[in-house]
Amino acid sequence: MAWFARFLRIAIGAGALMLLVSVGSPSIAQQVNPTASSVKEQQLLQELNRVQGRVSIPDQRSGLLEQPAGREWREFRDVTLHWIGGIAILGMLAALIIFYLSRGMVRLQSGRSGRTIVRFTAFERFVHWMTATCFIVLALSGLNITFGRSLLLPLIGHEAFSEWSQWAKYAHNYLSFPFTIGVVLIFLMWIVGNIPNKVDVEWLKRGGGIVGHDHPPAYRFNAGQKAIYWIVVIGGGLVAATGYELMFPFYLSGIEGMQLAQVVHSIVAMLFMAAMLAHIYIGTIGMEGAFEAMGSGSVDANWAREHHNLWLEEENARTGANNARAQPTAAE
Ligand code: HEM
Repeated sequence: MAWFARFLRIAIGAGALMLLVSVGSPSIAQQVNPTASSVKEQQLLQELNRVQGRVSIPDQRSGLLEQPAGREWREFRDVTLHWIGGIAILGMLAALIIFYLSRGMVRLQSGRSGRTIVRFTAFERFVHWMTATCFIVLALSGLNITFGRSLLLPLIGHEAFSEWSQWAKYAHNYLSFPFTIGVVLIFLMWIVGNIPNKVDVEWLKRGGGIVGHDHPPAYRFNAGQKAIYWIVVIGGGLVAATGYELMFPFYLSGIEGMQLAQVVHSIVAMLFMAAMLAHIYIGTIGMEGAFEAMGSGSVDANWAREHHNLWLEEENARTGANNARAQPTAAE
């Protein structure tokens, strides 16, 4: 009898267990059913525009599983940005080459007078070259982040690419500080002289002298230089603000803010690089005598008369010199 009672207890226990399993299994089956679960996921996405769970680690942001805007951002980062950068930079390079081949260097029409006039002080030149050097390193290291994987990696291999990318990333982070200081100093140093005025309208109407062979009047900075100044101040300000937002993630904003910062940073950076190519062109092979202004700091008086006659008059009045009638010596 005792054995029968033990058998009965085991049988009832097993039956109860089977009942429990059969009751519980439909919900387990539903959870692992891929179709059913994706339907739920879809509903969640539609309702909340994200799928978020709970995590036990301190950083609660890691609980975010899906954010559809992230896919749009990735599409921008991996495709659209490459087109924007490629068109802006290669397009500008092509335009400058065509322009140089058709127009050539803007020559000093009256030759050199042999008399020079100070255009930029040592401090101004230091700030310019510090900012320019940082800009070039930031541009190259930034381009590596965008294009390095597809263009450089196949050429130099994984090991060299990761080593170079690591150093490029350090450079991008650390040189951002002197670059920002440079942009602030440029803003303060040259704001007087870069406020647009009536003379700029006339200068632009006459093609600035670089398109034709005209020499429209200009003060210390002509409309083209003023445009470069504001591109540096506004573009530099934007890349700095968004760059620091990316460098110190999630301090200032959530994931959407980070995505927006990356979009603004990268688009402004590409356009900025294209604009600086034009600036470098005019400062070197595009115009005779221009490089000296930032090289030695002094320009020939005839150069000043041809390109910045109103500034030369101001300088003559200030210093009591008379370079306004500086005449050619070499061409005489
Ligand atoms: C204060 C100045 C700047 C700061 C703080 C800064 C910071 C950053 C940071 C944190 C990133 C993201 C890097 C990563 O994904 O690991 C980045 C990307 C980038 N930066 Fe800068 N940056 C600055 C200036 C510049 C300048 C002047 C340029 C070029 C003219 C530039 C071009 C780029 C480019 C092209 C990217 C890659 C965008 C991408 O493909 O995702 N940056 N920057």
